[in-house]
Amino acid sequence: MKNVVLVGFMGTGKTTVGAALSEALGIVQKDLDEVIVAKEGCSIPTLFAERGEAYFRDVESKYLDELLDEGSQILTTGGGVVLRQQNVESMLQKGIVVALSTSEEELIKRLENDTGRPLLAGGVAERVRTLLQQRAGAYDFAPIQIDTTGKSLEAIVAEITNHL
Ligand code: S3P
Repeated sequence: MKNVVLVGFMGTGKTTVGAALSEALGIVQKDLDEVIVAKEGCSIPTLFAERGEAYFRDVESKYLDELLDEGSQILTTGGGVVLRQQNVESMLQKGIVVALSTSEEELIKRLENDTGRPLLAGGVAERVRTLLQQRAGAYDFAPIQIDTTGKSLEAIVAEITNHL
């Protein structure tokens, strides 16, 4: 079976939905950010602070390719994985890509107390608005589009499985 790859902006619930989907389908889930942290041996904020975003994007692409090649997994990704066209092409080629979206208001509510996402440092609401604008359309390439706003986890999982 092809991989099922979940993409979407930070806070759209990729990891939570991926875990529930993994349970429902009986397929292993791997989270790209968790793999980066384990392989690099340090947290994402530390990686950004000490090595810079460009380094983070390089290792993100490298581990994405490795995970995609393992096959038959649910792969949850970080929101910025779509910033490189090569990653988009690899995901489309080696997976069924599902994009999760959530309203701006709901995203700000979910992320307002977040401390683990370096790109939100300095004011969550402002940063979310800016990044949403910068990334407008970036997730549209995914053939399966799921708006999670106001939906239960069960409903989201059912909607995705109906598409698979
Ligand atoms: C990022 C999203 C994060 C993480 C990193 C960068 C982004 O993952 O990869 O902080 O550029 O959108 P989540 O989408 O799981 O928060």
